[in-house]
Amino acid sequence: MDRILVTGGTGYIGSHTVVELQQSGFEVIIVDNLVNSNVDVLCGIEKITGVRPIFENVDCTEYVNLDRTIEKYPGIKAIIHFAALKAVGESVSHPLEYYRNNLVSLINLLELMPKHKIENIVFSSSCTVYGQPDVLPVTEDAPIKKALSPYGNTKKIAEDIITDTINANHALSAILLRYFNPIGAHPSAEIGELPNGVPNNLLPYITQTAIGLRSELKVFGNDYNTPDGSCIRDYINVVDLAKAHVIAVQRMLQKKQKSDVEIFNLGTGRGLSVLELLDIFQKVNKVKVPYKIVGRREGDIEQVWANPARANKELGWKAQSSVEDTLKSAWKWELKLKERREK
Ligand code: NAD
Ligand code: UFG
Repeated sequence: MDRILVTGGTGYIGSHTVVELQQSGFEVIIVDNLVNSNVDVLCGIEKITGVRPIFENVDCTEYVNLDRTIEKYPGIKAIIHFAALKAVGESVSHPLEYYRNNLVSLINLLELMPKHKIENIVFSSSCTVYGQPDVLPVTEDAPIKKALSPYGNTKKIAEDIITDTINANHALSAILLRYFNPIGAHPSAEIGELPNGVPNNLLPYITQTAIGLRSELKVFGNDYNTPDGSCIRDYINVVDLAKAHVIAVQRMLQKKQKSDVEIFNLGTGRGLSVLELLDIFQKVNKVKVPYKIVGRREGDIEQVWANPARANKELGWKAQSSVEDTLKSAWKWELKLKERREK
């Protein structure tokens, strides 16, 4: 059984990926310091897959601990590196925390890979590197724009650090996955997104409003140059996204990569506006979400959606879930959280 190290594996995207890895026959070692996740997630993963992944509570910025942990599990074939802080607003007020956490973690892993003879790394990047693209849908060859936040900048710098490192050491290879907007939960509702405090992202805000935890959703702007005036994004089902990681790992292990560093957009290819997403959510789940239009949120991109043709062709991966099913899964998860709170 091939061993995969998953940093940030108790987090939102990480936990869904661990499920898919285990269901594809990989042995998973999770490294997470639980700064933005809960150890109970391991129970959810176990319920779905029948296997409790190995878990190490380690901070990836701590080189010595990380080194010792990797030493404990010889023969790791690939790393999937999710561990990062991701709150855009917080990164503006605490930039050094973000640069230290996100970049030192990555540098430690890249330094430890040759030491432990680990050749492959998959990195969680973001469509944030494109800023507001000049051409839509955006391809991987679009120019990288100046980041609008320290968080976004950590993704851009991380991509450069990985590329420079691999150019200097051809024994290593990397796949950079640029996610668009991951949403939804596992269809079993055993795992899902666990936002800390007031959600920054649209869908958890919608589900928390629908369940009564928030009084109303604020729609940030209806005066954009889009058909209904609200911003457009490419919302991608988290399980579909997770599956792309398994394919990326298999591709590296089978040495099917065409170059040492490959980059893929992970999106559906379809853009939806805030108001459209809200409307579909209410219809498919038969719930009302009170909302009001407020001013624009600083730093928001007007519209972005993916051209996923490269991932479709090279990885043989395609987003499968309908947005309706994805929004149902998000609601089912919110109901499950309510049930847990009331227990
Ligand atoms: P998340 O916060 O749910 O998961 C990240 C996990 O990393 C958490 O469990 C957290 O405890 C852990 N972590 C953070 N710093 C760590 C450290 N120093 N050492 C060990 N563990 C640490 O976030 P997510 O949504 O699952 O995102 C996963 C990755 O995908 C991140 O790199 C994020 O930047 C990237 N990404 C997310 C989105 C999104 O919209 N969710 C979009 C694009 C890219
Ligand atoms: N929005 C609202 N009200 C809210 C929350 C969001 O109207 O309460 C709107 C935003 O203005 C935006 C859209 O919903 O137009 C989506 O917003 P999100 O915050 O959910 O997502 P973003 O596209 O702004 O950013 C997300 C992640 C970033 C990541 C980026 C690209 O938060 O970390 O996707 O992957 F970089």
